[in-house]
Amino acid sequence: MDRIYKVAVMVGSLRKGSYCRMLARAAAGLAPPSLVLDIVEIRDLPLYNEDLDGASPPAAWTAFREAVSKADALLFVTPEYNRSVPGPLKNAIDVGSRPYGRSVFGGKPGAIISLSPGALGAFGANHHLRQSLVFLDVPMLQQPEAYIGNGGSLFDDKGSLKNDSTKEFLQKYLQTFGRWVARQTAA
Ligand SMILES: Cc1cc2nc3c(=O)[nH]c(=O)nc-3n(C[C@H](O)[C@H](O)[C@H](O)COP(=O)(O)O)c2cc1C
Repeated sequence: MDRIYKVAVMVGSLRKGSYCRMLARAAAGLAPPSLVLDIVEIRDLPLYNEDLDGASPPAAWTAFREAVSKADALLFVTPEYNRSVPGPLKNAIDVGSRPYGRSVFGGKPGAIISLSPGALGAFGANHHLRQSLVFLDVPMLQQPEAYIGNGGSLFDDKGSLKNDSTKEFLQKYLQTFGRWVARQTAA
């Protein structure tokens, strides 16, 4: 039987009406059967502080680390804040990367989909995030890249993706990601 891979999806926006969260939900429905996408929440993670990372770290950190550890692969869906990675997502990266030598990200294949309401598709956030993930030994999908522009016009009032070309793009993107995950996991 073909293997099924669990993908931990991290969304870089905390707001209720987040387009990125809508996109992450759409991605879960458009993924190939080999990928099961589940959002791992980052909203309750206390800001990373090494002083707290001893014998009993905050419960939210432990739960996050366990959830990511159980996944086979990582998918980040993020907006851009001031041309970079939103603070809550950067905090989640920092939490998962520590204690030193026990990062939960290393070796898990990853991909980034960035979105902005403007035309640029959060290019800056995408590449700043990529920089951290490469450092954390996450083999990153290189092509295709996913910069989703005009993010505010892609969803209906129920939050479903209504734009056919974006659906088609996402579907192909996730198929390629699925092959990348299988190849990296077999290696
Ligand atoms: C603090 C802050 C900084 C932002 N900086 C940028 C930016 O650099 N580039 C950009 O395209 N949009 C920027 N935006 C607008 C976001 O792209 C927009 O709010 C987007 O809808 C956030 O994603 P979400 O819908 O998933 O919450 C910024 C928004 C906030 C709140």
